[in-house]
Amino acid sequence: MSESPAGKAAALDAADELAGLRKLFALGEGVYLDGNSLGALPAHVPERVADVVTRQWGELRIRSWDESGWWTAPERIGDRIAPLVGAGPGQVVVGDSTSVNVFKAVVGAVRLCSDPTRTDIVVDATTFPTDGYIAESAARMTGKRLVPVAPSDLPAALGPNTAVALVNHVDYRTGRLHDLPSLTSAIHEAGALAVWDLCHSAGALPVGLDAHEVDLAVGCTYKYLNGGPGSPAYLYVAERHQAAFDSPLPGWNSHTDPFAMTPSFEAAPGATRGRVGTPDILSMLALEAALEVWDGVSIDAVRAKSLALTDFFLECVAAYVPPGRVTSLTPSDHASRGSQVALRCEEAPAVMEKLIARGVVGDLRRPDVLRFGFTPLYVGFGDAERAASALAEVLGA
Ligand SMILES: Cc1ncc(COP(=O)(O)O)c(C=O)c1O
Repeated sequence: MSESPAGKAAALDAADELAGLRKLFALGEGVYLDGNSLGALPAHVPERVADVVTRQWGELRIRSWDESGWWTAPERIGDRIAPLVGAGPGQVVVGDSTSVNVFKAVVGAVRLCSDPTRTDIVVDATTFPTDGYIAESAARMTGKRLVPVAPSDLPAALGPNTAVALVNHVDYRTGRLHDLPSLTSAIHEAGALAVWDLCHSAGALPVGLDAHEVDLAVGCTYKYLNGGPGSPAYLYVAERHQAAFDSPLPGWNSHTDPFAMTPSFEAAPGATRGRVGTPDILSMLALEAALEVWDGVSIDAVRAKSLALTDFFLECVAAYVPPGRVTSLTPSDHASRGSQVALRCEEAPAVMEKLIARGVVGDLRRPDVLRFGFTPLYVGFGDAERAASALAEVLGA
């Protein structure tokens, strides 16, 4: 760097077209690089949640299921998330945790597979653990075999026995972005269905579910979508599969006429059949309010800033931190990078503790990985420079 990193950060922040969004969030003085775990609070959300509690629940009570739009919230909020993941309307439904939606998606995909003799569910071997646990259980329940495969080996592992492949779009540990378009087409060429976990990509980069003909997808909303702790997840079922999608959790909310209270189940049309029971309204409406920060924001601009931020952070780390003290696990090529930087570091737990004490909040994946998440809506280049400088200080540079 010819210019000082701090000088460069100031220039990049001044030119940042998304910089104005930071004021929409309740952020203090520190540097928050943990939005890949729990997104920051959009400042208007508390007032909106207070209205849901005091007026909608407190005054309107049961009337709010209709009058406050509670009943239709899962589909309405699904349609608000849809453009962020490249889905047309009517294909995303919000509710339950990601884990529960992984279950619905994997079992649903096995049931959608037109060839019942196919024996295998292929799962990303580096997956976030819950997906692996649930895929294993889904395999046992459906009489299939679980085949864990590293995403880079996935095309070679697919074959005439593959029924379904479950893949993470971005690796939670390393921040590696897997190639959704090419892997989805490889899965399809093998005659199988593609299920994607978008937890670490939705809200950070373009996903293109419809454009790349993904079959089913799931994701959480508490990371880059800033929905709040434990906010409900979502399930995408491509329109072409909806009529045949047979959820393994058919509840009264996924019935075509819930209030008919009939003993036999008849699935609702569309994304609604991905629902199960009564939606978690307080969390869901907090999420709905939080999603307003996306109004007018282009996901391409978010991606461009995310890559610039992670590039700049790596540049500052290289400039400040003595060689050999940290090793980046995050790919340097843009096509393989999500929106976080993972640094392998000796004594990572103590290092992260000291960083947090200095106001730089990232997180840790045991035993030796420091994770820094870059949420382009509220993280700036100055934050990246401060974080790298604090890291160098902690490492005794
Ligand atoms: C990739 C991925 N999948 C699944 C989950 C688990 O989601 P939930 O706790 O909503 O079930 C997480 C949580 O961080 C995750 O990162």
